[in-house]
Amino acid sequence: MKTIEELDINGKTVILRSDMNVPLKDGLVDDDSKIIKSIPTIKYIISHNARVVILSHLGRVKGEEDKSKYSLQNVAKYLQDKMQTEVHFIPKTKDRDLQNEIKSYPLGSIIMLENTRFEDFPNKLESSNNEDLSKYWASLGDVFCLDAFGSAHRAHASTAGIGKYIPYCIGFLVKEEVENLSYLINGPKRPFTILMGGAKIDDKLKLIENLLPKCDYFLATGGIANSFLKALGFPIGSSIATEDFDIIFKIKNMILENKNKILLPVDATVGSTYDENYVKSRPTAQIGTNEIMYDIGVKTIEKYKIAIDRSKTIFVNGTCGKYEDPKFSNGTLQCLTNLSLSSADVYIGGGDAVSATRKLGFEGKFKYLSSGGGATLEFLGDGKLSALEFLKENGYNESSNA
Ligand code: 3PG
Repeated sequence: MKTIEELDINGKTVILRSDMNVPLKDGLVDDDSKIIKSIPTIKYIISHNARVVILSHLGRVKGEEDKSKYSLQNVAKYLQDKMQTEVHFIPKTKDRDLQNEIKSYPLGSIIMLENTRFEDFPNKLESSNNEDLSKYWASLGDVFCLDAFGSAHRAHASTAGIGKYIPYCIGFLVKEEVENLSYLINGPKRPFTILMGGAKIDDKLKLIENLLPKCDYFLATGGIANSFLKALGFPIGSSIATEDFDIIFKIKNMILENKNKILLPVDATVGSTYDENYVKSRPTAQIGTNEIMYDIGVKTIEKYKIAIDRSKTIFVNGTCGKYEDPKFSNGTLQCLTNLSLSSADVYIGGGDAVSATRKLGFEGKFKYLSSGGGATLEFLGDGKLSALEFLKENGYNESSNA
């Protein structure tokens, strides 16, 4: 697929789909990483004698009340402060005069429209990739650029549909993410290790099935490890784990077929269902009925360190436990420390692992931090992203649209 540098944008209006779906606290930007990663493409466009119209979603809009909660106004202001260039926020997603309003800004301007998901209430027009909406947004510009890596697993009107009606390309962020993540699925330097945690295995099964044959060690933590332990018949007390028998059956087979690869926790730090101050260390074979595994224990950290130290490439997804609570942050903190000291190329992917990396002070210590959550998992699961697949199949083609 063409990149923004391969299209002629001189004198044109570029509709840029970025992912500015950032966490907010009291209405203000709480983590700006996705905004910062969107800036290089914006800068490129405005420095090539083109105006940019930025589209993004924010949150999920299911009712009128969500519209006041999820306006992009403060995000536009934040972007303006970061870029030190005016960002013209137009609090609309559709309007008869929008095209003229956009054209009234000189080339080189940055324009941002309101949250694309405002079109989701009441008729889900954005997320159903509605043709009329896609065509309308396409009519506002000359070129469509998809740079919203974090949303590229969604073939919505703003991430995909627009590209059916005008020439399209990808931006620098999508290019960088696809290159880096492709490296992991196309033969990274071995030994290749995966450290995977997170609450639910159900969402990650496809990813595990795809990556397991490619890796040398699979270190399970968090809810993922609990499900593995449950499949092997360990007592997991009241810890979170899958209830799905098909998944438990699949996991059991996976462990039997990959005995030398899959490493499981041998101990845990547990809390309890009845006392929020309860903290105990336990071997994983001795978890009580009311106990909840919230973190891996020190023996597990040491066991995983041996694999980390042998590795040349490591992919980290999810955290080792409930790291936001200092009582249960040791596993995540120690593993990040060991990863930062290892000589392996470390790739961190998925929202929770990236947040933990930042919050615990490890930003800048690893080879690559992916900006995607679901998108990273979808891409590593089958090497595809729904928005890119839609564009490949249905994207604008000069001859058929002539
Ligand atoms: C994300 O934060 O993972 C992306 O922006 C996608 O958001 P969504 O899950 O609401 O589509």
